Amino acid sequence: MPSIDRSLPNTGHRYIPQITSLELPPSPNQELMPLTAKVNSNDNLEIGGCELQQLVEQYGSPLYILDEFTLRTACRQYRDSFATYYGGESQVIYASKAWSCLAVCRIIDSEGLGFDVVSGGELYTTLQAGVNRDRIYFHGNNKSAAELELAVEVGCTIMVDNWLELDHLAEMSEREEQQSITIMVRITPGIECHTHEYIRTGHLDSKFGFDPNQIEEVFAYIHKHSNLNFIGLHAHIGSQIFERQPHQDLAGVLVDWMKKAQGYGLPVTTLNVGGGLGIRYIESDDPPSISQWVKAVSQAVEQACQDASVPLPKLIAEPGRSLIGTACVTAYTVGSHKKVPELNTYIAVDGGMSDNPRPITYQSVYRAVIANRMSAPVTEKVTVAGKHCESGDVIIKEASLPKTKFGDILVVLDTGAYNYSMASNYNRIGRPAAVVVSEGEANLIIERETYHNLIERDRLPERLVKR
Ligand code: LLP
Repeated sequence: MPSIDRSLPNTGHRYIPQITSLELPPSPNQELMPLTAKVNSNDNLEIGGCELQQLVEQYGSPLYILDEFTLRTACRQYRDSFATYYGGESQVIYASKAWSCLAVCRIIDSEGLGFDVVSGGELYTTLQAGVNRDRIYFHGNNKSAAELELAVEVGCTIMVDNWLELDHLAEMSEREEQQSITIMVRITPGIECHTHEYIRTGHLDSKFGFDPNQIEEVFAYIHKHSNLNFIGLHAHIGSQIFERQPHQDLAGVLVDWMKKAQGYGLPVTTLNVGGGLGIRYIESDDPPSISQWVKAVSQAVEQACQDASVPLPKLIAEPGRSLIGTACVTAYTVGSHKKVPELNTYIAVDGGMSDNPRPITYQSVYRAVIANRMSAPVTEKVTVAGKHCESGDVIIKEASLPKTKFGDILVVLDTGAYNYSMASNYNRIGRPAAVVVSEGEANLIIERETYHNLIERDRLPERLVKR
């Protein structure tokens, strides 16, 4: 296989894959850039065959730029790896909370993946994108009655999280002419992993899922309600995880419970091991590849099933970040500079915590490049600040960059997961537009919010209009 040159001119950093058709694409989650990233003859960064500076000229900034090839590659790597490493049936479902919009759902659906949704809004989006209910799984620790009604009406699988929901569903399933309701049960597995405490969910002190000591009671309850079509168990231990061991341990825990369920006359045909595989935001991040992760999980489930003498279940994984994180970058325009002598230099961009709330929420770290001068030598350590009225509105605390000037295009990498989906209108700043790029073509997938959009749902009561 020809070697891949991933070095960026003059930076010495390994991060631009140059893909040719002869090579198998690398695992997107191990890269810092979308797989199609390259520097063109104008010394400009190109993604999906589109020059970023031109995209900003056409669509404005900040701009989310989604590389279709990278997203499709991640989908295929998950799907193909399960087909290679798992002896039973498998289904990869996209945790759409990472980025839910029609175009993203459409691309992922066309790759044969299913969808994890956690709200009526995410469910609605997948349905509008044309996703079949058989591939939709409805999560959430406090689904409203209306959301449950909608999920039942749609006929998707409901991941039951707690007693309130179970009671509701049992009651709904007994209503006249009600067809059976397909459910899976979410369990808190009691598995620790090393990630930020806000994105850890598998430890016992968690708001999600049934506590292990309640689970037999849950099985007995479901057994008594024959219209509840119980198909299996789910657990999710956290996000941005680089270790394989926690998911391997999880396989054993889930298979133990699978056996317990059988004791209550509930055959478990489906196990869902959640998502959580991490991605590389900075050079020192070292996640396993998609195929290494799938192999580890598949082998652990097979081994646990063999040890417990239970048949292989249909195996579901629900990644979000590792499917879409690397596929997108955010392009900003550089504005003001501030030099604090002997302390720091700030460069400000035209977005910030409203389009990327992850640094201020989780102290997440990112890398950036100057897209319009890719070979300019890296000479500065600066703080890349946003434009919000908040001191903590910093996108990158210590960014290594060439000397920047007003109007440069600063591109923050790996912003596909939990960026648009957690974006806000703080300071009444409209959320950015998003484009999908592929083979030299760019298409708008989300329009930029206008000033009008910002006030269109405001209402002025009559008595405030009169003076
Ligand atoms: N399944 C369940 C039940 C989940 O709660 C999550 C993520 C996933 C799957 C997908 O996990 P992933 O493969 O993306 O790690 N906003 C945070 C991440 C929150 C994750 C929430 N749950 C962030 O920006 O890091």
